Amino acid sequence: MKPLSIKDIAKKANVSITTVSFILNGKAEKMRISQEMIAKVEKIIKELGFKPNQVARSLRTGNTKTIGLIVEDISNPFFASIARLIEDKAYKHGYKIIYSSTENNLDKARGLIKMFKSRQVDGYIIAPMVGMEEDIRELLTDRTPVVVFDRNLPGLEVSSVLIDNVEGAFLATQFLIQKGKKNIAFVNVDVEVKQIKDRFTGYEKALKASKIKADPNICKLIPFSNTAEETTNDLIDFFTANPQIDAVLFGTNYLAVRGLFCFKEMNKKIDKDFKVIAYDDHDIFQLHSPSISAVEQPTEEIADQVISLILKGLTISESFEEQQLNKVVLSSRLIER
Ligand code: RIB
Repeated sequence: MKPLSIKDIAKKANVSITTVSFILNGKAEKMRISQEMIAKVEKIIKELGFKPNQVARSLRTGNTKTIGLIVEDISNPFFASIARLIEDKAYKHGYKIIYSSTENNLDKARGLIKMFKSRQVDGYIIAPMVGMEEDIRELLTDRTPVVVFDRNLPGLEVSSVLIDNVEGAFLATQFLIQKGKKNIAFVNVDVEVKQIKDRFTGYEKALKASKIKADPNICKLIPFSNTAEETTNDLIDFFTANPQIDAVLFGTNYLAVRGLFCFKEMNKKIDKDFKVIAYDDHDIFQLHSPSISAVEQPTEEIADQVISLILKGLTISESFEEQQLNKVVLSSRLIER
């Protein structure tokens, strides 16, 4: 049987092909098509089992078989390894990936979305930053598949692959407590997203569970905009001012690496009297002497889930509405070294 076409829908609804196309593209309101007409066409689409998603997309853009991947910093080993895994998996399904970094700069992030739009990518995979909400909503309104990962933004209803950061930081802090530590510092990046702040919640929760009072003086936020050298210097100042610290949880991999530089410069030993654990694993932590314990995020699984959700969005087997909300939350793993 000949597959249904947009022409069939237009004929049945007794409207023009352009009208159906605007409705499929989510542009009906903008084009001042009445609510009754939208409802009528949508009813026919549903009744006939027409798959609007693929048609809408091909009408709008054609299919470029490319996916835009936007992360905070592609040179960060966490994002780099996920990007590489995503690239391999996408390639197996006939898609190519175009990468870019926001560097937590909203103008840059918006410019990237514009650039990807002009390149007519078929879908977007984004580790978003605050302020991108409207841009992402626009993509969704335009029926373009979007999957966010690592972070989501308040009020943004989009498919996501996230990590239980509270649990991860809880495990890391509990590990230090079990080593007898009482003055556990927490060093995190000042990125304003819940998933990063959740690491602090996990830290606090573990302290509370062991009846250790959290000391705000030994919780330190490091600006994302810092240079590596500024971060090392901030950390040297912090650890010098707080000699009581007997252990530290670094909230991200690159801060832990800077921490190791700082301890080297301070001649501060990592041993039974001073423990270090990092959120995110890194080859350096394994090589370092002594080796450094870490909370490992399941990068392979993150990439798998992200790819399967975006492919779901790019296929014709489900209606767009059904594809919209898939929320995956994964656990991280404590690596004791
Ligand atoms: O800098 C990398 C870190 O930022 C990772 O922990 C990742 O989860 C991200 O949000």
